[in-house]
Amino acid sequence: MRATKVVVLVVGSIALLGLVAGFITWVVLSNQNAPTPPPTEVIQLDWWKNCVLYQIYPRSFKDSDGDGIGDLKGIISELKHFVDAGVDAIWMSPIFESPMVDFGYDISNFYDIHYEYGTMEDFEELLDKAHELGLKVLLDFVPNHASNESEYFIKSEAREPGYENFFIWADPLPNPENPGVRLPPSNWVSQFGGSAWEWSEKRQQYYLHQFAIQQVDFDFRNPAVKQEMFNIMKFWLDKGADGFRLDALPYLIEADPADHEGRYPDDPLSGLTQFESHQLGYTIPLYTKDLIELYDVVYEWREFLDEYNKNHGGDTRVVFSEGYANVSMTMLYYGNEDGAIGAHFPFNFDFITDLSSKSNARDFVYIILRWLTYMPYGGIPNWVFGNHDNNRMPTRFRHDMVDGLNIINMLLPGVAVTYQGEEIGMRDGYVSWEDTVDIEACNRGDPDTYHLYSRDPARTPYHWDNSTSAGFSTSTNTWLPVAEDYQEINLAKQKETARSHFKNYQALTKLRKQATLSHGEYDIRALSDRTFYLVRSLPTHDTYVLLFNVSERRDTVDLGRVPHLTLPATVYVSSIHSARLAGHEITSSQLSLEAGEALVLKAQPI
Ligand code: NOJ
Repeated sequence: MRATKVVVLVVGSIALLGLVAGFITWVVLSNQNAPTPPPTEVIQLDWWKNCVLYQIYPRSFKDSDGDGIGDLKGIISELKHFVDAGVDAIWMSPIFESPMVDFGYDISNFYDIHYEYGTMEDFEELLDKAHELGLKVLLDFVPNHASNESEYFIKSEAREPGYENFFIWADPLPNPENPGVRLPPSNWVSQFGGSAWEWSEKRQQYYLHQFAIQQVDFDFRNPAVKQEMFNIMKFWLDKGADGFRLDALPYLIEADPADHEGRYPDDPLSGLTQFESHQLGYTIPLYTKDLIELYDVVYEWREFLDEYNKNHGGDTRVVFSEGYANVSMTMLYYGNEDGAIGAHFPFNFDFITDLSSKSNARDFVYIILRWLTYMPYGGIPNWVFGNHDNNRMPTRFRHDMVDGLNIINMLLPGVAVTYQGEEIGMRDGYVSWEDTVDIEACNRGDPDTYHLYSRDPARTPYHWDNSTSAGFSTSTNTWLPVAEDYQEINLAKQKETARSHFKNYQALTKLRKQATLSHGEYDIRALSDRTFYLVRSLPTHDTYVLLFNVSERRDTVDLGRVPHLTLPATVYVSSIHSARLAGHEITSSQLSLEAGEALVLKAQPI
């Protein structure tokens, strides 16, 4: 009896195991024959969330009338360049009426176009033509300060009712030791050097200027100033502008004397002995930068803009904020954890401030992930490689890194920002002391040191071709000299050459339209000190992988360590000095990359 039971149990178990094995085989086999699943559905993103945003520095982009200065008609004549390059939106440094002390960042009339750049009709034509081509146009909004030639300042200095407190005015400090010598209200230092306070003979008071003496700081605690900012924004939105870049926000608000026994408190001293009291760096800007109240102003602007969008319909108008601050203070521009919403994004300057030719692959990964880690949930990231305030990207990094850097920009999730010239790898131009016009260089530097501060090298005219003044102007007398390398580096030449930075740029802007890049996941990691990978993947869509050797030496990496990369994979884009052309197959998992070599590989969907 017992023996029978054992036999039944053994036979039963074997039968059950057989059944399970059969079922597993059936599942595996039937899946093998199953049709490929349909591509993952992707929801169309709002236009700005994955756009290529191009910064124009109007003075240096294209001169239409031969005066050596770029202008709006020049921009209009080259709008096709953006379509050709695959750009979706442009933002222009200020084009408003200005004495040009800081080349447009000192606005004397916020409601009109600067005469050297053209007329209001030209601006309207630019908007119409850009919109016809599907391009968005953003203006530079400069809320922190106005020119001392603006009506606002003239009226405020004269204490005209309504304008008396438009700016930050203060009495001198009492000077018991030397009553004959005036003392400024505090030790605050201007961004362009010297005291941030300037005496007005007319009003017999000091006014605050965080930038040049001619750029007077508005008082954002005055409701009339806040209202005027809404009026200005509304004026340009009504004209059809698609939004604004917001200038210099960290300086919007300073400490209130009401909180400091009636006087402007001194900033603490940095203790850095190389700086004298008039030099930037002498103090720590505790009371002059990143004040928490400024964010409320930004949140109010966002509310205003959202309301405008709601009432007027059409495509979303956006604000992108400018400010150099630490990561926490930067992220607050997106919004805060109490639910306030700010800019659509703050510009991410990490590639300018935290990375350079000295960085290794781990530094790149760490800095990229820092933004993605700190960014609030649902935020849209963005990547900036240069602008009119910093040395150009190939100069800060190495010339052989141009394609790799443009690839990072285009392959990372979010918005890719290009400063004019980056698409062709333009480098800093040389500007002698005699030719230097940048106020920061003139104020802070001298013939020996100006190059440490000058922003002119990043502002030299755009290189269209190898004709007179690089095709920027018919005049040889341009406002800044044309960089000497224009015969070698120019757009026309790069369009003709089989492999060029521009052709890569075009391939990359096209690639960004693929769902993997707009909607896919990212994975980024260092494979060694020299090389890192960035994988973009989306189920059922092709996988794209960047491999970038940022070092000055060859590196061999093991592709088996790159997740989701199945071999063979095809080269989609390669840096122009790479021996591998687009279409080349990578079959071996051991891959050698030359110094600065960057490859985008296309691989099977995950
Ligand atoms: C930031 C701008 O980008 C820079 O060019 C200007 O000098 C300052 N803000 C002051 O407006």
